[in-house]
Amino acid sequence: MMKIDIISAVPDLLFSPLNFSIVKRARESDLVQINIIDLRDYSLNRYGQIDDYQFGGGAGMVLMVEPLFNCISELKKSNQYNHLIYLTPDGEKFDQKHANCLSMSENLLLICGHYKGIDERIRDNFVTMELSIGDYVLSGGELAAAVLIDSIVRLIPGVLTDIESALTDSFQDNLLSPPVYSRPAEFNGWKVPEILLSGHEEKIREWRLEQSLKRTEQRRPDLLKDFDSL
Ligand code: ADE
Repeated sequence: MMKIDIISAVPDLLFSPLNFSIVKRARESDLVQINIIDLRDYSLNRYGQIDDYQFGGGAGMVLMVEPLFNCISELKKSNQYNHLIYLTPDGEKFDQKHANCLSMSENLLLICGHYKGIDERIRDNFVTMELSIGDYVLSGGELAAAVLIDSIVRLIPGVLTDIESALTDSFQDNLLSPPVYSRPAEFNGWKVPEILLSGHEEKIREWRLEQSLKRTEQRRPDLLKDFDSL
């Protein structure tokens, strides 16, 4: 079973993304174990301090080196992590390839920053991978961690049923997904494309590929460069 530990200063932020839908089902089926570690349990004093002003001045607090050091050191005693991942806007841009690769891990540790981030010495001495979910700044790494976990967990074998198969997701082959329709075949005068009702599997496959290509060309031509080189 895959095990994911997350260190967070605001663990409540992680609750709902990890307790519903597919991630919930994966946890209940013991396909993934997710542990949230509250950094405040490692605070230095009875005020629960885990952050401090940055040396050299400047706005914003920094998560201190010592609580993180103590927390990570304790976790490492009983875990052999494949990766220690720090979520940060200056990390490598996370995409489906990272998700595919990380879904084969056995044990991951995710570190969520808050405020201005974490003391650089933790990054220098512990972190093995730094990931950003996009070019914008979040208040902390928790929502980014939730995005990462959701995208990874759905790729673990057995988590999705055949019907939900991740293989046909957008990006899985570097193309966007084709349009999808469900019953009724006609609503309000709006019709479902005839071909999808034909039962002709080969033709439907062709149509879907065409639509995927068309959609990708229109919306994300940058993806086609990779597709061409496959
Ligand atoms: N923490 C703050 N902003 C972030 C981002 N865009 N990606 C990952 N972690 C973050």
